[in-house]
Amino acid sequence: MTATSPEGVDPVRLVSTSPVALIEIDNPPVNATSQAVRAGLLAAIQEVGRNPQIEAVVIACAGKTFVAGADIREFGQTPREPHLPDVINAIEACSKPVVAAIQGTALGGGCEIALACHARVAEPGASLGLPEVKLGLVPGAGGTQRLPRLIGLEAALDLVTSGRPVKAQEALRLGLVDRISSGDLRQDATELARELIGQPLRRTGERSVVAMDAETASAKAAEIRKKARGAEAPGKAAELVLLAAGLPLQDGMARERETFLDLRCSEQSAALRHAFFAEREVMRLPGLDSVEPRRVQKVGIVGAGTMGSGIAIAFADAGFDVRIVETSEQALTAGQARVADVYDKQVASGRITAAARDERLRAIGYAIGTSSLSDRDLVIEAVFEDLEVKRALFRDLDAVLPPGTILATNTSYLDISLIADATSRPADVVGLHFFSPAHVMRLLEIVRTDATAADVVATGLALAKRLRKIPVVCRVCDGFVGNRILSRYRQQAEYLLEEGALPHEVDAALEAFGFPMGPFAVSDLAGLDINWARRKRLAPTRDPRERYVDIADRLCEAGRFGRKTGAGWYRYEGGKREVDPVVTALVEESSQRRGLTRRAISADEIQSRIRAAIVNEACKILDERIVERPLDVDVVMMHGYGYPAWRGGPLFEADRVGLQSILAQVQERAAQDGPGWEPADSLINRAASGAKFYP
Ligand code: 3HC
Repeated sequence: MTATSPEGVDPVRLVSTSPVALIEIDNPPVNATSQAVRAGLLAAIQEVGRNPQIEAVVIACAGKTFVAGADIREFGQTPREPHLPDVINAIEACSKPVVAAIQGTALGGGCEIALACHARVAEPGASLGLPEVKLGLVPGAGGTQRLPRLIGLEAALDLVTSGRPVKAQEALRLGLVDRISSGDLRQDATELARELIGQPLRRTGERSVVAMDAETASAKAAEIRKKARGAEAPGKAAELVLLAAGLPLQDGMARERETFLDLRCSEQSAALRHAFFAEREVMRLPGLDSVEPRRVQKVGIVGAGTMGSGIAIAFADAGFDVRIVETSEQALTAGQARVADVYDKQVASGRITAAARDERLRAIGYAIGTSSLSDRDLVIEAVFEDLEVKRALFRDLDAVLPPGTILATNTSYLDISLIADATSRPADVVGLHFFSPAHVMRLLEIVRTDATAADVVATGLALAKRLRKIPVVCRVCDGFVGNRILSRYRQQAEYLLEEGALPHEVDAALEAFGFPMGPFAVSDLAGLDINWARRKRLAPTRDPRERYVDIADRLCEAGRFGRKTGAGWYRYEGGKREVDPVVTALVEESSQRRGLTRRAISADEIQSRIRAAIVNEACKILDERIVERPLDVDVVMMHGYGYPAWRGGPLFEADRVGLQSILAQVQERAAQDGPGWEPADSLINRAASGAKFYP
């Protein structure tokens, strides 16, 4: 018995073998619970109940994964029957044992199906989770009510409000799965189903939940809301999970459904869905679909500093053969210690096993000099940010590396065309701009020059996929996409200082906006010296009419490079950031020198001026075709710079805020701040025509 999807394929099949039947869901690519799947699943479970030959049933999936959730593409449409909670209730209510056989990922609605089964068997590599909060939602098919019944309130709060998936071993420890398959998943699930025949059914929804005392519960909910930085779903999810201790299943589910349907129509959920699809769309670059990437397995990294060692770890984690080179034994030993330290910390925190650490450490070799890189398929330089240093290095690499080896630079600002021109093979040169810490941050800017070969860009994209990074392909300009926008809004933040705000006020306003850290706190973390070098480099070509704030230069001249020197925009005592009267005096003195009367500046003004600066620069980046699509900018800002994903990135948000009001803000700044702040052509045109970035 089957149900047919609109494409005419049967997404659910019931194979009625006796005594244990099989319900197989087959809805590529991820077995999402589209309407056809829900209908098929309901019909199949009803047939199981009716058919006297069937005494138990296994629910399994075709392809690589168990059900990865509700079909996100259906979220913009009116819900169609049968609704997932009803299908899932029918599974739980089935009079015969139902066992879930889980491979790949059981996420969202998929996890909720598994929760309602009477037992769960998972493959060792499987993971389970309720990631709905990442889409601005709460679980909508019983997840908030059944999960605490199975694993307790505390663990359920953690999983539901973070959206964190757990691997099979942790799931077993939590009681989320009953067994881990030792061989054939379906066979093991069938075996368990057979064992359950004739036993009392273990219905998750009938279990009770041990309550949490009211004070602890409200403290936990408050902490979750604070951590969410403006995202509303985690707080709502916490409230629902806590209800499970006091309400019968059906009442809790009714409350859950109501919240789910409310959030589904929210701006935050629309923004997070945009973020979800944009992260995947960046991988698909027009014109590159049929270009074959080059093969890369052996990777060389020049420079064992923070970036170089982070990049090495990212590649070693993804199973590449890595070799780091340095110019001295001392630098090499320091790099080796840095790498070992990162892995030791991961072992100590339980993120990886000691065996995995040892394997990854073995994957990274160390050598002096570039000549040892001659067998590499790709070499990435992560040396000092100086054009001549990098050009000399590329000349050297060009002489050592065989034809076809890709030469990449991790520069954050420099003109990659000039670096490529130092070689005899500019077509093989590309920018791979990682973000620090490179083994953690998911964004990767792939910077192509006019000469970069298409298959080199395609290789960058393929590498990003293997590294589990989110790549954005862009062209050369100072700072590429992210740092160029960052420089602009940092500049605007400094203007705000001169006009009356203090660093901690600007940071607080932007943290309230949803950034994890304000620009001055970030600058202290990254080190003020990096930007100082850049400002000095650009000084000779800076427009003398440009409004320039020199507070950061003065901090640097005083040796205040940020956290690493114990002081920057703030001072750090015992690692804690504190407002520093020295900086306050410097800021006030700067206003005075400029003849500006300081005034109180509201958080609202700070936020809207920074947003306008970001949107205007983003439009210039689009006008210059540094990137092709608004979504490229949104992805860079969300994944590299902490722009709150629940706002969907600056351009998605700009559509909602209204381009006319943003343009008005930009025009006002242009009048006040002068050259560099002129409105972008496309901003003017869009605002005039009413065209949106995302029609
Ligand atoms: N609905 C619709 N399409 C989905 C989807 C979903 N739930 N999950 C993934 N897809 C699509 C992707 O858009 C992509 O399509 P494309 O090839 O056209 O770009 C394709 O499936 C493959 O996805 P990935 O490229 O992400 O493949 P990976 O193998 O890297 O990852 C995954 C697979 C881990 C399942 C990942 O796709 C994922 O995390 N998906 C989202 C899971 C999720 O959020 N589920 C909860 C949904 S909300 C819900 O269930 C509500 C319920 O409580 C009622």
